[in-house]
Amino acid sequence: MTAFLSQEIYELKKRVEAETARRGHVPTACVVTFGCQMNERDSEKLSGVLLAAGFAESKDETADVVVINTCTVRENANERLYGHLGHLNSMKRANPDKIIALCGCMMQEPDEVERIRRTYSFVDIVFGTHNLYRFPALLARRLAGEKRVFEVWDKEREIVENLPKKREVPYKSGVNIMFGCNNFCSYCIVPYVRGRERSREPGEILKEVRELAADGVIEIMLLGQNVNSYGKTLAEPLSFAQLLDKVCQVEGIERVRFMTSHPKDLSDELIEVMAKNPKVCRHLHLPMQSGSSRILKAMNRRYTKEQYLALAAKIKAAMPDIHLTTDIIVGFPGETEEDFEETLDVVRRVRFDSAFTFIYSPRTGTPAAKMPDQIPPEVVKERFPRLLELVQKIGSEESLRELGQTLPALVEAVDDAHPGRVTGRLGNNVMVHFDGGEELIGTIVNVKLKECRGFYYLGTQVP
Ligand code: SAH
Ligand code: SF4
Ligand code: F3S
Repeated sequence: MTAFLSQEIYELKKRVEAETARRGHVPTACVVTFGCQMNERDSEKLSGVLLAAGFAESKDETADVVVINTCTVRENANERLYGHLGHLNSMKRANPDKIIALCGCMMQEPDEVERIRRTYSFVDIVFGTHNLYRFPALLARRLAGEKRVFEVWDKEREIVENLPKKREVPYKSGVNIMFGCNNFCSYCIVPYVRGRERSREPGEILKEVRELAADGVIEIMLLGQNVNSYGKTLAEPLSFAQLLDKVCQVEGIERVRFMTSHPKDLSDELIEVMAKNPKVCRHLHLPMQSGSSRILKAMNRRYTKEQYLALAAKIKAAMPDIHLTTDIIVGFPGETEEDFEETLDVVRRVRFDSAFTFIYSPRTGTPAAKMPDQIPPEVVKERFPRLLELVQKIGSEESLRELGQTLPALVEAVDDAHPGRVTGRLGNNVMVHFDGGEELIGTIVNVKLKECRGFYYLGTQVP
């Protein structure tokens, strides 16, 4: 572990011991995640630090220390946090010793931090995405008696490796391969709150994957805002496809996924590596955002409708069993009925297995927020359900096209609604329910897919 970090955790540990004596119990801590997979992985680091420092883990917010890892990708994420703060405030009134910490993407917005500083005086600690590893030092300062500890850096600095991590589940794990984003899609706040693109050294990534494999992990999700541009900032450049190939070679790892792929950077080399490698899951999330070339240009996505269609066709030709999923934004400034029809057209032609559909949300500081011709809510309200209906209709037809086949499923959970049944995930990301017990969790078993149920299968385990 980096020397100064272990020192900081050690200092925090001494504070936790003092707190244990003062409170009469080992203080409990809980980390709540509001964002994407990258935020989830960050939360695992925060939980890792808390456990290493001697806190007891709590699954709910009655804990003595509550950390909220925020998201700000759309305005409703911010609203959700403010709604939640009211709830935390009443809990703190009942337990004034409670410590509330906020971190993550929304804390990189100075206006939001100012609002919290002024009107949410019960918030004890605020830090951002760039100084996440400073958490033990900030918490120690609060425990030492400082009233409010606010520390946010406006820019990224070096990548800090080797933070302790506490995985949510034992058998699968996310692994960051890069941080930040350089794409500046005109609607998106991520580059402003996550900083410039930085790739981790392949040696560090592979070391982490090997350690995870030794610890029982069989499925890896490589994480980055645009994994296809991995490696460009390294002293010795390595492509994402090459990295993926190396990760697949790690003994013990049986499945590899990755997120997110930007269509503009998806190479033929990647398609080749995926196609030849059975460990790479047959699922690709390929956000298209819009089907209109005119809107894509205004979004600064740097591909056209035709290029997207050609790419999807190329991927499907190389891997006919692949499941394609996507993200789509409705109501981007200037979107006409014709533009929207183009989006529906791409959905009909690509036939996505599923799609996340979002209503455009203006983000302060992004170019799109200042564009003329913002779309009135009533127009969006009319378009959005039309897209959703089409996406769901096609998804229900496409996503269960393996009916009758026998495929490997990674068992993730006991099916709460049906005792004696478990839920597994196929490589293509579709779920299957079948008879089995808790002991199967974390193992890959073959399942015959017997019946379609909406967006999942019912099956039976076969040898
Ligand atoms: N890096 C990923 C996306 C990260 S954000 C990529 O480029 O694909 C996840 C999704 O949120 C995006 O794909 C986009 O569809 C949506 N999104 C981002 N900003 C948004 C905004 N301002 N309004 C609505 N949806 C947005
Ligand atoms: Fe946002 Fe675009 Fe970067 Fe994705 S690639 S995080 S949508 S700026
Ligand atoms: Fe949200 Fe930050 Fe992820 S804004 S989507 S948590 S990178």
